[in-house]
Amino acid sequence: MSVSSAPGKVYLFGEHAVVYGEPAVPAAIERRARVSVESRADDHVRVTAEDLSLDGFTVEYSGGTDEHPDVDVSPSLVDAAMGYVDAAVRQARLAADAPDAGFDITVESEIPLGAGLGSSAAVVVAGIDAATRALGEPLDRRELADRAYRAEFEVQDGQASRADTFCSTIGGAVRVEGDDCEPIDAPSLPFVIGFDGGAGDTAELVAGVRALREEHGFAADTVASIGDIVRTGEDLLADAVPSGEPSRELLAELGELMNFNHGLLAALGVSARSLDAMVWAARDAGAHGAKLTGAGGGGCIVALDPGEETPTALSFTRDCADAFRAELATEGVRVEAS
Ligand code: PMV
Repeated sequence: MSVSSAPGKVYLFGEHAVVYGEPAVPAAIERRARVSVESRADDHVRVTAEDLSLDGFTVEYSGGTDEHPDVDVSPSLVDAAMGYVDAAVRQARLAADAPDAGFDITVESEIPLGAGLGSSAAVVVAGIDAATRALGEPLDRRELADRAYRAEFEVQDGQASRADTFCSTIGGAVRVEGDDCEPIDAPSLPFVIGFDGGAGDTAELVAGVRALREEHGFAADTVASIGDIVRTGEDLLADAVPSGEPSRELLAELGELMNFNHGLLAALGVSARSLDAMVWAARDAGAHGAKLTGAGGGGCIVALDPGEETPTALSFTRDCADAFRAELATEGVRVEAS
């Protein structure tokens, strides 16, 4: 059996604008999806999801996933989860030139689904890695990141950047601009995550920003301004000591940029009352800065605070279902067992 894990991520800066060629800086966090893959003698695929929903489910199929499983979980959740697993299987079969390969797959994830923490990217990255290893055809990281991107692109009808999948594969902080993806040095930033218990619809949110941007010059300028924030943030990170404790000045400057980035995302219509409430709770508690992370609409915010004030304040915020600290995951995809 091959077992691989891959981390989720937060966007320090640049979501949505990255879709239009601006740079973005996501950072991997120590919350992982773990995928176990065993090759089968036939061409069937059997998927067991332990934590993708509160209930979990098992699905077995051969050929396409048009057959709808008879399980006690919301069909949209099963469709979403199965879409990603299925696309990962397709990429692994293509990469290993094994179109009829069958697998028993178990997915366990610590990353809430559709909440801006890159759950689907982590599942796809770990899934392709484990499946190609199970077939004796492991991929190098660049190819793995590329195949994972293609899987997300396919499932999300082309509404995907390389940011999530590259970050989850490589780990640490990365810079993505179009097809250009590079790791960057970043100190260990004190991320605090607030989760409202919900999720946003990435494709719908991306389409909303696209429409605004096409209709109004000022919306296009807002997207370009997010790009300016990212470039300023990158310069700050480049001047910082690569590892170890970030200085208070650096946190204050990064936090200010995060606040600005959140304001521009809200102007583009992708925030939500719950996200704004958590952002303000974090700022009131003394966080250096706070913003939504990912597509928005619901899900998570990320704040910078080395102390306990922000996690405590978030845990008492009505709109916050869960608050936790997240370490930067310096390691991306990882072989857990082979
Ligand atoms: O919510 P997530 O983690 O799927 O992030 C979406 C980020 C977007 O920039 C809105 C889209 C993308 O693929 O980059």
